[in-house]
Amino acid sequence: MILMQVPEIPYLMPEQASTMAGQVDAVYLYLWALTIFFITIVSTMLIVFSVKYRRRSVDEIPRQVAGSIKLEVAVNSLVFVSFMSIFVLGAYLYFVQYRTPAGAMEIHVVGKQWMWKFQHPTGEREINELHVPMNTKIKFVMTTEDVIHSLYFPAMRVKSDVVPGRYTNLWFEATKEGTYHIFCTEFCGTNHSGMGGRVIVMKPTDYQDWVSGSANDVSPVEAGRELYTSLGCASCHGANSEGGRCPPLVALYGKQVALQGGTSVVANEDYIRESILNPAAKVVAGYPLLMPTYQGQLSEEQLLQLVTYIKSLSPTQTDGIDVTAPARENNPRVGAPTLEGQGATSPDSYRSNPIGATPPGNTGAAGGSGAAPTGSGTTSSGAGGRTANPGSTRPRPDNQ
Ligand code: CUA
Repeated sequence: MILMQVPEIPYLMPEQASTMAGQVDAVYLYLWALTIFFITIVSTMLIVFSVKYRRRSVDEIPRQVAGSIKLEVAVNSLVFVSFMSIFVLGAYLYFVQYRTPAGAMEIHVVGKQWMWKFQHPTGEREINELHVPMNTKIKFVMTTEDVIHSLYFPAMRVKSDVVPGRYTNLWFEATKEGTYHIFCTEFCGTNHSGMGGRVIVMKPTDYQDWVSGSANDVSPVEAGRELYTSLGCASCHGANSEGGRCPPLVALYGKQVALQGGTSVVANEDYIRESILNPAAKVVAGYPLLMPTYQGQLSEEQLLQLVTYIKSLSPTQTDGIDVTAPARENNPRVGAPTLEGQGATSPDSYRSNPIGATPPGNTGAAGGSGAAPTGSGTTSSGAGGRTANPGSTRPRPDNQ
């Protein structure tokens, strides 16, 4: 760790409850100190110079001062170095935060208007409440059923968007027992402000007790294996995912896959997801495209279970390969999931959904009636401007 951890400052910042928190606060305080330093210098000089060099008589003509190269170089270097230091510290923290460490416990997150759904590796599910063990690295594999949300743990100083049709990652290691806030920090509709919850950090032994409390939960790997069978994946990918008419899935995760057309791709969570929903997007070299799309047939939870099952077939690779920053790629996907495909079928999720789904008719009427007055408004103001111009230019020569 390069960065020092600053201690918690009560009332100024949220509690510190993760390994990241002290470091984020350190950068924050540094920014603060830097800002105060420059504000002090600039405002002091502003006041001193305006008094010192004030105009002393009406006829005074200021004496010309030639610049000083030394001074200019010094000032610019100081500013350059201090602002680049913000970049270096910020970039360092960014890499720590968005590079998921190996061997982390994996929790699945699905955002939905307006709740957070969590699933533990054991299969235990929670909504708007999350129990986690202390001193354990926890990796979140996250997506959303409808619109973009953003999962924020203020006490851990970490957050990340959850984006439709894609997996994003987040991780933290809690350092202090307690109950802390969970917020959604991306405006996502009417009840955005209520889309929160709490994270409960427990001693690892307490967590084990808590998680073993409901023994009849099916783990995501188990559920994924059942889906693999019930969806008929075995008929092409083999009963044990060893391959057949379609590529083998054993030891796939984390591997470099050669594709038709000579390109290749790392088989991460996003690639597996894409291949289930849109098999034609990236076809493995040497195999015909036989697979139908499963778009619209699987919920986000089921997709995550299938992906988790496929990951479990590569035990040596399962950890720490997927390094997904919040906005790693901005290319819109081919065949981006539809709202229906994402399960946003309730009227509530449509109502405040920014992706479209405005009731037809309403928009046309509003746009039509709105356009007419605006149009006439601009023409009249344009005409007014034209007549005003000669008037405003004319007095000038008279005044001179
Ligand atoms: Cu979800 Cu704001």
